[in-house]
Amino acid sequence: MEKIVDIEWSKLGFSYIKTDYRYISYWKDGKWDEGTLTQDNRLHISEASTALHYGQQCFEGLKAYRTKDGKVHLFRPDRNAARMQDSCRRIMMPEFPIERFVDACKQVVKANEAYVPPYGSGATLYLRPFLIGVGDNLGVRPAPEFIFSVFCSPVGPYFKGGMKPVNFSVSDYDRAAPYGTGAAKVGGNYAGSLMPHEAAVKGGFADCIYLDPATHKKVEEVGAANFFGITKDNKFVTPKSPSILPSITKYSLMQVAKDYLGMEVEERDVFIDALDEFAEAGACGTAAVITPIGGIKYKDKLHVFYSETEVGPVTRKLYETLCGIQVGDITAPEGWI
Ligand code: COI
Repeated sequence: MEKIVDIEWSKLGFSYIKTDYRYISYWKDGKWDEGTLTQDNRLHISEASTALHYGQQCFEGLKAYRTKDGKVHLFRPDRNAARMQDSCRRIMMPEFPIERFVDACKQVVKANEAYVPPYGSGATLYLRPFLIGVGDNLGVRPAPEFIFSVFCSPVGPYFKGGMKPVNFSVSDYDRAAPYGTGAAKVGGNYAGSLMPHEAAVKGGFADCIYLDPATHKKVEEVGAANFFGITKDNKFVTPKSPSILPSITKYSLMQVAKDYLGMEVEERDVFIDALDEFAEAGACGTAAVITPIGGIKYKDKLHVFYSETEVGPVTRKLYETLCGIQVGDITAPEGWI
């Protein structure tokens, strides 16, 4: 009989709910084992694991969506697989093959299908693949063994309120170094963001904006999400920098803006003292989806874009088109679903 779970989907925030199965594969003696689903959500690893001491680990985030007719879609899992391979190369971990990554995600979704929220509930099933260095090791060197795993959790909006504008402050701290690991999805980037985030929240903001680490003049990221702005002449603009995490949602939105909304798209410098060029702005990412930016506080001045309470028309259209593609209401570009 089909399992039914007792979850109030519309009340979900972005937090962990233990589901029934997760996928795990071990790398040892130069190869990955065949991998398996397990019900155990605990890892038993060496106290000397490089993931624990030297941050030798990376992760991904993607979502499964329920369609109107009850099917389940994964959105561009091959892009997450490829990005995880990029992260692995940067911190010297063995790559997990793209087809096996996608297959692992499918296995996890199928085994936990009862946790895929219903169509129209505003919730989705978030998948968290991760790859960590384990095994006995002391010196700063790559681990002798690795674990690749994928777990999932049903989630609601990342920022409270979902598709409602929120304000951000500009952080005095850097998220990444100019040629550091900013473009890799490694845990250390996120550990370093905890304190600036806390300071932003204490100041009454949803999160903080990070400027480029070399000059502190250009916008890089919005908390754990990417930035986009809609110029007054209706261009979709997003920052370009080697220290930004290449968001799959952002690159998807660039294509949506161009091919579905007929907009011009630019990936280029966005200067913090030139925010006036934008009529609307937003944060985008798998977790954040699209979160409209009401205003940005920089040097004691709050720069308000469209409105602090209302969503701008272009941001809304981008959101509706992207979400429509993800749940299958709108035809997706080849290979996205
Ligand atoms: C995501 O959007 O998937 C992220 O990685 C953001 C955050 C939850 C770490």
